[in-house]
Amino acid sequence: MDSLGALRRTHDCNSLGLDNLNQEVVLMGWVLRRRDHGGVIFIDLRDRWGITQIVFNPEINPEPHAKAHQLRSEWVLAVRGKVEARPGDMANPKLKTGAIEILVNELRILNASRTPPFPLDEDSDVSDNIRLQYRYLDLRRPEIGANLVMRHKVMQGVRNFLCDNGFLEIETPMLTRSTPEGARDYLVPSRVNAGKFFALPQSPQLFKQLLMVAGMDRYFQIVKCFRDEDLRADRQPEFTQIDLELSFISEEDIMAIAEGMVKKIFKETRSIELTPPFPRMTYQEAMSRYGNDKPDTRFGMELVDLTETLRGCGFKVFNAIIEEGGVVKAINAKGCGNFSRKDLDDLTAFVAAFGAKGMAWIKVKEDEWQSPITKFFNENEIAAMRDALGAEPGDLILFGADKLAPVNQQLSELRLELGRRLGLLDSNVFNFLWVTDFPLVEFDAERKRYAAVHHPFTAPLEQDLDLLETEPLKVRSRAYDLVLNGSEIGGGSIRIHSPQMQARLLNLLGIGAEEAEEKFGFLLRALDFGAPPHGGMAFGLDRLMMLLTGSSSIRDVIAFPKTQKATCPLTDAPSSVERKQLTELHLRPDWKEA
Ligand code: AMO
Ligand code: AMP
Repeated sequence: MDSLGALRRTHDCNSLGLDNLNQEVVLMGWVLRRRDHGGVIFIDLRDRWGITQIVFNPEINPEPHAKAHQLRSEWVLAVRGKVEARPGDMANPKLKTGAIEILVNELRILNASRTPPFPLDEDSDVSDNIRLQYRYLDLRRPEIGANLVMRHKVMQGVRNFLCDNGFLEIETPMLTRSTPEGARDYLVPSRVNAGKFFALPQSPQLFKQLLMVAGMDRYFQIVKCFRDEDLRADRQPEFTQIDLELSFISEEDIMAIAEGMVKKIFKETRSIELTPPFPRMTYQEAMSRYGNDKPDTRFGMELVDLTETLRGCGFKVFNAIIEEGGVVKAINAKGCGNFSRKDLDDLTAFVAAFGAKGMAWIKVKEDEWQSPITKFFNENEIAAMRDALGAEPGDLILFGADKLAPVNQQLSELRLELGRRLGLLDSNVFNFLWVTDFPLVEFDAERKRYAAVHHPFTAPLEQDLDLLETEPLKVRSRAYDLVLNGSEIGGGSIRIHSPQMQARLLNLLGIGAEEAEEKFGFLLRALDFGAPPHGGMAFGLDRLMMLLTGSSSIRDVIAFPKTQKATCPLTDAPSSVERKQLTELHLRPDWKEA
């Protein structure tokens, strides 16, 4: 192997063009591709910035050419050479450096490489496990590398924007107490305090509230959060929040800050001009129109409630469900009247996976409503359905009948599936939506008590306060989510700052004084010392990056992500530890050693 010696890089692999003709330059990078036609050897040299073609010509520079024969994929080179124009028909308009090439007069081989386990110059069909095991190679692929570059730009943009708006970046502890975000905790046993555990934060929620009590006024942090929950395409066990908290503000102020920040990010990274204020929709409306509290508003096909229209109708299945307090809702799949039997069977199986007991359908034809169930409906019912659904010849009506919650879930999933099948989810459209007026609490049937929908520090809506003890499920909260194309990219709330109100809410949640003291006594005490009115929100940075980069997996925007099973194939974490370490931590496991 050669050493770098006195050689200094003069340019990166994306910077040279016709302006540099005849200059002598030094480039360093990796061998992406090698073409050896017996005579001249061409190599695509790659670094973080791009690709430049380098040329070894045996007639002109025999020494480096002889050496270049041994080069293989991913070897690391330094080359000195002259910038030359490529012959006209050899120019590559797809490459920024495609008009030139470097005629090499000095080659230094800085390192060799084993053959990579997957090719880096194409999107090959390799298991995610192998990619993650060799993550440092996968990151060399420009598409994945570009995601990290964009993530960096977003973080810088966020920092600049928030600093300009008077926010302080303040760190909060990673070794802390369990916080009330509602997932399982990652626990860290304490060696010094036998039988005691830290929890890694599910979010900095309580600390950021304490910072408001401390008078910091505007806090932000780009911060890791840890949640031990079932993983999905848009969830990681450790993920990053852009976390904000502000004092002396209302929802409007927070939304304006969030909108300004998102606008700046989209402009700087994708040159997209967003036009806040973003539309708003109450939780109630979102559930009724989309069956979902994070609706994808890039396409229509809304849910229509036909319960009253079909009450007492001749179709026994629907009628029985309505009699029992259930609902019938439907969507109009515009233009899908030509779906085949197989299409309908597929969709029926699709909703069955979400618990649907069936999926009645009607094909709207010019002169009839084609369906096994049309015969059960009278003219009035058909006319009312036509009006409610805006049904026209060529359309397909799909029904869900059950209790409200399952119908909403089934039809909202069905709607999204149709959106995917029909190609209605344009990844170049960015539909933001604030969802507001969430319910404050829901009933946790398993634990037989009310649970906070957001978290127990979220303020109730003032005009609903009278219902807090009598009809708590009707009380709305001052929480809001920011939804982008059907994905929840952020959420927050105005907090309770009065100790009396906080006690009232904990009481409702069945959290007694003792439990409250044990779990978050430190916050309750702080509220007693002049807590200012405050509120905030947190963005899921990884989810935002997924949407900005058009990635289908959250892993594509994280440098070292975990698998669906919350493992890291690269470092093989989590791993076993020595018995001695466990003993020191006062843990006496009863599992068998692998
Ligand atoms: P919340 O729990 O809604 O609120 O989280 C805020 C945002 O974080 C993202 N997110 C995740 N991203 C990836 N993987 C996960 N497992 C994951 N879980 C959540 C989502 C979500 O909108 N402390 C409050 C915020 C506040 O009230 O200020 C909180 O954490 O995009
Ligand atoms: P059946 O009378 O059971 O053959 O059902 C007639 C049609 O109604 C079929 O297309 C079923 O898939 C559909 N169906 C049955 N139960 C439901 C339900 N709960 N919701 C929607 N459609 C249903």
